[in-house]
Amino acid sequence: MRINIAIDGPSAAGKSTIARKAAARLGYVHLDTGAMYRCTAYKALEQGISLEDEDAVCRMLEKTDIVLTPQGSVLLDGKDVSEVIREEKTSMAASKVSKLGRVRKELVKRQQKMAEAKGFIMDGRDIGTVVLPHAEVKIFMTASPEARAKRRYDQDQLKGIESGSLEEIASEIRARDEQDMNRKESPLRKADDAVLLDTSDMSIDEVVDAVVKMAQERIGEQA
Ligand code: DC
Repeated sequence: MRINIAIDGPSAAGKSTIARKAAARLGYVHLDTGAMYRCTAYKALEQGISLEDEDAVCRMLEKTDIVLTPQGSVLLDGKDVSEVIREEKTSMAASKVSKLGRVRKELVKRQQKMAEAKGFIMDGRDIGTVVLPHAEVKIFMTASPEARAKRRYDQDQLKGIESGSLEEIASEIRARDEQDMNRKESPLRKADDAVLLDTSDMSIDEVVDAVVKMAQERIGEQA
């Protein structure tokens, strides 16, 4: 019996890394919903569309194909944008575009369709509350702002992505937290029935173990 697993939490809490590794251990598929907001923002910036013009962004989205491959690549209208959408200017733009109610509605619809078959670990901000409110496992993953800034910095260095100083990253994370938690449409919040996982002092392997254990328990109950 396959289940769906929802992982939400603030920026740079390690959601994607953990979800990817846990999915590999469980034989599940990881869907990084943040990548869909990033693709939307990236294309709008490329086309010179204002991130505040909801009509124009929605019209663009109607003609936009976003594919998250089971191997973890992100294809925007057939082009691999996996790396380029991680740049800082796109991070902030994605947070801006994610405030638009009709954009959220469209992307949520696509995400729900993707997860219909079950066997997915989906990470984002509103998965346990809006996208998959009936997910069998719901986790709200968080970490201190300092731990998150350090992780994002190390990750960027490793990938050779151009990044700011540790302090610049920390302030960008704080600004995005502020924006994601205080927006009107589906603000970032823990679902009442989600398990809170503070990963500040945990290694990646420890967090993956905790997620896999929770999932296996639920899969066992369903069998
Ligand atoms: O997870 P991320 O950092 O790649 O997400 C980029 C932005 O997209 C984030 O600032 C908030 C938004 N987002 C959202 O509103 N809902 C989601 N399910 C995923 C991301």
